[in-house]
Amino acid sequence: MKEIRIGLLGCGTVGRGVAKILTESAALIASRVGARLTLARVADVSPDAAAGLSLPEGVFVNDARKVATEPDIDIVLEMIGGEGLARELILAAIAAGKHVVTANKALLAAHGNALFAAAAEKGVDLAYEASVGGCMPIIKTIRESLAGNRIMSMTGILNGTCNYILSRITDEGIDFQTALSQAQAAGFAEADPTLDVDGFDTAHKLAILSALAYGMRINLRDIYIEGISAITPMDIAFSRQFGYKIKLLAIGKWGRDAVEARVHPTMVPFSNPLSNVKANLNAITVTGDAVGDITLYGYGAGQMPTASAVVSDVVDIARNLLTGAAGRVPLMSYQPSAIRSMPIKPMDEIATHYYFRFAALDRPGVLSRISGILGEYGISIKSVHQKGRGAEDAVPIVMLTHLATEANVRKALSEIARLDVVGDRPMVIRIEDENGEEAESGY
Ligand code: HSE
Repeated sequence: MKEIRIGLLGCGTVGRGVAKILTESAALIASRVGARLTLARVADVSPDAAAGLSLPEGVFVNDARKVATEPDIDIVLEMIGGEGLARELILAAIAAGKHVVTANKALLAAHGNALFAAAAEKGVDLAYEASVGGCMPIIKTIRESLAGNRIMSMTGILNGTCNYILSRITDEGIDFQTALSQAQAAGFAEADPTLDVDGFDTAHKLAILSALAYGMRINLRDIYIEGISAITPMDIAFSRQFGYKIKLLAIGKWGRDAVEARVHPTMVPFSNPLSNVKANLNAITVTGDAVGDITLYGYGAGQMPTASAVVSDVVDIARNLLTGAAGRVPLMSYQPSAIRSMPIKPMDEIATHYYFRFAALDRPGVLSRISGILGEYGISIKSVHQKGRGAEDAVPIVMLTHLATEANVRKALSEIARLDVVGDRPMVIRIEDENGEEAESGY
């Protein structure tokens, strides 16, 4: 039986999971691939990193640079993370003609265009299934299974930490900080949790998916990003009352001249399967023009689910090597010559439904002043709710709107905020309402 030799760079949580699958399921994988996948090198700076893995003598080393270019290594797995050393080693491995697997979404979102160009030029595979949605095969689904579809939209929960925090606040009533600490203790939050809660990790993943789905160059810079830290238990309670859950969504929509790509807390109706995604699970609904909706659901982080996705890439590459088919599936779904720069629609041009929560004095005429300003900007109110009474203290007034544009909402709210009877900045949450009027798709 042929042998394919693998060099693993980084033996942290995911790296150890990959080593576990490659060693413990070696016979099963060999029977599927038709070759033995040998974990030939494992490199990590920490001498204890491979403890408990029972690696043969000489496999564990501390020099990842050497492994990245070692002549008898066929596939290099970059499991180091970060953007410095990881990028350097991937480029070195590609230059040495190695096929590479990475789970590094932050790196791909920032430097993917150059990395994919380098791999395509060298004729090697650069695989990244684990970079988005952990074990969910979303890259393969878009790139291969839906190759005959125009991808009309993608709506996903792509950050387990945020979903865990929002779910815990919704179901258990615990506060934001406690829920975040629990996510960190469980090991699925990023080392810097602001990447999670401020929406950047979700945006990294959306940048990759948008490029794959629309044939555009990766464009992280123009994605609108809003995190979950301003969401209060009061908004979660109101949402529930109106039949919605609040989720941090990545939303991508096709448009002929510009696509939509945005990350923000969103009210999702109970009827939408995404509203039922619990704890740190991820899910994504992709709508193709031929296929309709497909929803994938599974663990988006964690040792073994992420390792499972990495190993699926290793198996793909091994099969390509055995059949001389490297590059058969274009790395970014489209042929490199077909990939173009596509604008992302400015947020002001987005039309959606809104939830507003104002803190306003409970006096005659207040509601009509607020609704008058909304009316001036063409924002039509679907329903209004006031909680509590009291002439002295502000009370929450909540409004749900019909379809409105972001530009009009921004102007109206800044005018409303200047009213002497309205305090604080109003809370704004966008609503993804499949039963509501649809915005122009531009398709
Ligand atoms: N911090 C990420 C999450 C890990 O919570 O989903 C997976 O990318």
